[in-house]
Amino acid sequence: ARANSLRLPSGTDCLFEACTLEDHRQALALIRRRGWPLTVLGGGSNVVLGQWLEGAVLRSSARHYWLEPGASGSDEALLHVEAGVDWPALVREITADGWWGLENLALIPGSAGAAPIQNIGAYGVELADLVERVHCLEIDSGRYRILSRAECAFGYRDSVFKGELAGRMLIVRLELRLSRHAAPRLGYGQLRGRVEALCGVQQPTPARVAEAVSALRRERLPDPEQLGNAGSFFKNPVISRAHFERLQACHPEMPHYPAGEGRVKLAAGWLIEQCGFRGHRSGHVGVHDRQALVLVHHGGGSALELMTLAERIRDAVRQTFEVNLDPEPRLYGVTG
Ligand code: EPU
Repeated sequence: ARANSLRLPSGTDCLFEACTLEDHRQALALIRRRGWPLTVLGGGSNVVLGQWLEGAVLRSSARHYWLEPGASGSDEALLHVEAGVDWPALVREITADGWWGLENLALIPGSAGAAPIQNIGAYGVELADLVERVHCLEIDSGRYRILSRAECAFGYRDSVFKGELAGRMLIVRLELRLSRHAAPRLGYGQLRGRVEALCGVQQPTPARVAEAVSALRRERLPDPEQLGNAGSFFKNPVISRAHFERLQACHPEMPHYPAGEGRVKLAAGWLIEQCGFRGHRSGHVGVHDRQALVLVHHGGGSALELMTLAERIRDAVRQTFEVNLDPEPRLYGVTG
């Protein structure tokens, strides 16, 4: 249960912790020789784990990061981050050093290696905005591959690692572009107000922006150390403008965001709240009382119980709004 932030009980036949590149290669070779199915886990903060993961689980414990300075006179640098680095700790340290880039992504639980898979995003910034390259090992061959940002095919909570390359790559390192040049992105929700309250007449710093983001997250999202959860349980759905206009006629206050030509993104949390699920509890699982997009595990429950609640929520939203919600975390070993 410690390996996943939902705190669901889960076991596996064989757990590998790999640190060096050679460790990773050897683990992959052994797993291949034995013909074991493989689950790659990061921080376990965006997964729903069933009771037993057949075969092997591989986690990276490579926790180095370093800065590669830009050309002389440039205020940019490349940040190299190994897969096992804890994301929120990285953001704290890098923003404290005065680098811009990561501040809006403060306090997102999980490891750096998992971040590109779902293209983590918050407060108007996505990881894709910073990624230069992603270094991987091919699971089938052990071959080293470096993917450019374009090859990663990032989208909203999406990437090539969930699509064409799903289950085929082990991410070992990220290269992220950072800058010394002040570039606060404060347009999302109440962020600007929070930063202004923190900074007063002084210019915002990356650390101050990260602090404001962290405060906003703490107010709405449960701390996985205290209450099992995997962040947003559903993606915000994208629908056609015609469908949106029909819904808006009955619900003029419905939150919505532009999502490209003829498309509108809705707030899944709002839809779920309208269906009466905010703060709902059903057995050992439930819906967070401050953010209806987050399902929580109170302890003693199972993946099946959680998925049953998720299905009830999906049905209710489908019936009320004719909108489909897709789960955001990835499911491993969950059957039925
Ligand atoms: N809302 C409600 N009721 C709720 C939840 C939300 O009415 O229970 C409304 C809010 O009032 C607001 C709108 O929905 O008008 C959007 O809410 P919020 O700003 O909390 O963001 P979100 O769309 O629910 C997304 C991400 C979060 C990220 C926040 C902030 C997804 C699936 N989720 O949530 O990411 O932190 O924006 O940028 O895109 C995560 O992926 O795990 C995650 C937490």
